Amino acid sequence: MSKVVVLNHPLIDHKMTIIRDKNTGSKQFRESVSEIGGLITYEISRDFETVPKVVESPVCRVDGFELAKKIVIVPILRAGLGMVDGIHDMIPHAKIGHIGLYRDEETLQPHTYYAKFPTDIKESLVLVVDPMLATGGSASAAITILKDRGIYNIRYVGLVGTPEGIKKLQEDHPDVDIYLAALDSHLNEEGYIVPGLGDCGDRLFGTK
Ligand code: URA
Repeated sequence: MSKVVVLNHPLIDHKMTIIRDKNTGSKQFRESVSEIGGLITYEISRDFETVPKVVESPVCRVDGFELAKKIVIVPILRAGLGMVDGIHDMIPHAKIGHIGLYRDEETLQPHTYYAKFPTDIKESLVLVVDPMLATGGSASAAITILKDRGIYNIRYVGLVGTPEGIKKLQEDHPDVDIYLAALDSHLNEEGYIVPGLGDCGDRLFGTK
């Protein structure tokens, strides 16, 4: 069964409270979502493999390290985009893929309308990014798209999760560890996470 890591850090809690506040404007909302992405990256990367690398400091030779694996960040469009800059700031050499999904109004099944990945993604560690792990349907579908292309080294990164979203992801993808800034109580009848932060995409992009 996959690992679920809910970050417990004063800075993350502080910034999560800013984005949960309905009175927070879109500039501060965007900045905080990105900053939380950066802070979560510290935790995601705790067990990244390194390989030795020798460099010359201005004073002498130094035995150092560099990351062993390439990293690819894959936001699920569109809300996932909000966390990308913060993660990319921490891992600037990471490449970025994109997955766009929409939900069929009749079957309620997610369908892919866009998928584009770096060519070396199979040798990389892939961070699938979507702020809201609500039902888990989109995250699970996005990970299936990657696995269908032979990509298996995957971690999920989000802001807020629900017990039902975690259950779905763990059932469908027991090999994918889940990293979240907060675990909330449940989904309401309209599909919103409670207490949540509302529609993350709308708040990021000012579409409401
Ligand atoms: N997506 C969102 O943006 N917010 C929710 O509360 C649930 C899904």
